[in-house]
Amino acid sequence: MATRETTATGVLGWIDQRLPVVDAWNKHLGQYYAPKNFNFWYFFGSLALLVLVNQILTGIWLTMSYEPSAEGAFASVEYIMRDVEFGWVIRYMHSTGASAFFVVVYLHMLRGLMYGSYQKPRELIWLFGMAIYLALMAEAFMGYLLPWGQMSYWGAQVIVSLFGAIPVVGADLAQWIRGDYLISGITLNRFFALHVIALPLVIAGLVFLHILALHEVGSNNPDGIDIKLNKDENGVPKDGIPFHPYYTVKDIVGVAVFLFVFCLILFFFPEMGGYFLEYANFEPANPLKTPEHIAPVWYFTPFYAILRAITFPMFGLDAKFWGVVFMGAAIAMLFVLPWLDRSPVRSMRYKGWYSRIALILFCIAFVVLGVLGVLPSTPGRTALAQACTAIYFAYFILMPWYTRMEKCKPVPERVTG
Ligand code: HEM
Repeated sequence: MATRETTATGVLGWIDQRLPVVDAWNKHLGQYYAPKNFNFWYFFGSLALLVLVNQILTGIWLTMSYEPSAEGAFASVEYIMRDVEFGWVIRYMHSTGASAFFVVVYLHMLRGLMYGSYQKPRELIWLFGMAIYLALMAEAFMGYLLPWGQMSYWGAQVIVSLFGAIPVVGADLAQWIRGDYLISGITLNRFFALHVIALPLVIAGLVFLHILALHEVGSNNPDGIDIKLNKDENGVPKDGIPFHPYYTVKDIVGVAVFLFVFCLILFFFPEMGGYFLEYANFEPANPLKTPEHIAPVWYFTPFYAILRAITFPMFGLDAKFWGVVFMGAAIAMLFVLPWLDRSPVRSMRYKGWYSRIALILFCIAFVVLGVLGVLPSTPGRTALAQACTAIYFAYFILMPWYTRMEKCKPVPERVTG
């Protein structure tokens, strides 16, 4: 049977006759025309990829010395930190990497909100992104149980017990997740399996689809302009430049700055004052001793604050149930975002004041919720968390209204700056 025709020669030519590597390179890099006006905010996609690779590689090395059992887990982590050659740096790269992942992903999502990157035709990119975000949360949550410290244990206890708030099936569901009547070595084993193989596979698959969907419709840009509408005689977008070499080289700048900050934290503040690795987690898990104050790691705290903000029963169902519902709804809202935004323009640069103020208030509310989620609750803090929860939901629920009511600026034909 004849092989594929190829312009490549040598080994590459031999491969290309059997596997379309040259086409793939051109389609996704050499002749992938990205808008020429990418700015700072466009670094975070490639940085997310970098952190993903870091997590996978350091995770593989940690697994070589980690023992997934209730009896041995804590001691094996201590062993990695003290005795394994460079074990401390590998562990800190992984634990700091987890927080870095969320920093990068939150900024990546904020970029999407600012430039309307979720709008038609990029809804699927956004949906794959949200699926990644969910899987990432599950991945981080399960990873946190593995060192089997006090906060690993009690954090998992609190989160898994939330499933118990679901009427009728809740208690059985929580037991099914734990595999036991309380968090135990059995839970640790299954979380280990999910953390090291199942979820990384899911995340890697979703990232692949995320980028495939992006390359199908093309990247958005800070102006929110469709560069494909303005092509030259060769069919190349006038405002586009080949991803390689222009953005591969530009992204190296982002990578260098990121690695500088990352190493600074890694070598000087790996626990980040108890925010990246909580102090209670340096004590082995003790099912008989509840820590005085249980708080999840910072990246979950906005949602944890929403959960705690619901302090009153409604429609005959208790506050815990509604807390779980609101927390779930807070994430569900992000999924339907592409269908809530009715604006004729994409980017904040051309949207009206309602959208801008709404996004600023949303960001403030999200950060305040994040801070409140780490602190023990008081009546005053609960009231503030309730106000921020209201703002959080108002951003989404009122979006179909304010994006239609406001006066937008005219969008230029060609990208600016
Ligand atoms: C492991 C996590 C993730 C990785 C590795 C990743 C990777 C990427 C890459 C490489 C790009 C292209 C470069 C860029 O536009 O910055 C991109 C674009 C995009 N991502 Fe992600 N992403 C991740 C998570 C997410 C999440 C959680 C969301 C939102 C829910 C999201 C939404 C988007 C959108 C809307 C675009 C298109 C942006 C535009 O064209 O303006 N991504 N992503």
